[in-house]
Amino acid sequence: MDKPGVPLQGAYTTKAVRELVGSWRLTHQTVALVPTMGNLHQGHLSLMEIAREHADRVVCSIFVNPTQFGVGEDFESYPRSLADDEALLAEQGLVDLVFAPDDKDIYPFGVEAAVRVSVPQLHGELCAAGRPGHFEGVSSVVLRLLGIVAPDVMVLGEKDYQQLVLLRRMVRDLQLPIKVVGGSIQRERDGLAMSSRNRYLSASERRTAPKLHGELKRVREALLDGEENLRALETEASRALRAAGFDPDYVEVRRAGDLSRPNGLESAGDNLIVLAAAWLGKARLIDNLRI
Ligand code: PAF
Repeated sequence: MDKPGVPLQGAYTTKAVRELVGSWRLTHQTVALVPTMGNLHQGHLSLMEIAREHADRVVCSIFVNPTQFGVGEDFESYPRSLADDEALLAEQGLVDLVFAPDDKDIYPFGVEAAVRVSVPQLHGELCAAGRPGHFEGVSSVVLRLLGIVAPDVMVLGEKDYQQLVLLRRMVRDLQLPIKVVGGSIQRERDGLAMSSRNRYLSASERRTAPKLHGELKRVREALLDGEENLRALETEASRALRAAGFDPDYVEVRRAGDLSRPNGLESAGDNLIVLAAAWLGKARLIDNLRI
């Protein structure tokens, strides 16, 4: 695709972003939002490309949201690289506006006193099991960003598949007039899903990391070959990851639409997905593969 080469503007307050988006609205232009926590890589840029295809204007928000990090998680050390991110976005020419608010703009009454929303679906399952409060933090901040930017379209990566399913559900349940579009996982040449957290991997962990994708591929092949014992496949994949040096949180086969558990006798045509989260050193890696 030819890059459109749009000039990048910056907005650092809610007021500024509203004014600019409001001026586009006056001329009936549509708006897509790509919410991010910055430290942008090719995976994010692919989302900006998708956003560009869906709307006249593209807004990329960059905000490291404190409420989605649990106690002992990496909020303090999460990579913050706003100047580099802005330079990359300006060079790519895919985004009209970068919105990089500070905490006070997003949480005017403070983080502790902030209104929160939660999506009851999948409570305590998959990534929610190991990260209590995480998805409430995500849905709460995304609802705020949607309220500020008021986009027609929101583009999210499929690597955080549970996040995508939950945010789709939130948008539908609250009847927000916003189309949610998922962008496929971007991978390094060896199969590792691109992620800002890959930078936490040591050199030897980085060599091991693609095995996570490898195990998902093995599960997928077994299912396509007709294996029906999902629990045995999940257990075997976790065992193999452990043997390779990972500390897996889960490997699970679910229905792709709503992440519910399949009955066990579904075939490949039933639209399944295998998802995994596993620690490798200081990095918690997540990945998934459609069957
Ligand atoms: O996926 C992310 O980067 C974050 O969870 C999001 C959607 C930007 C909310 O903070």
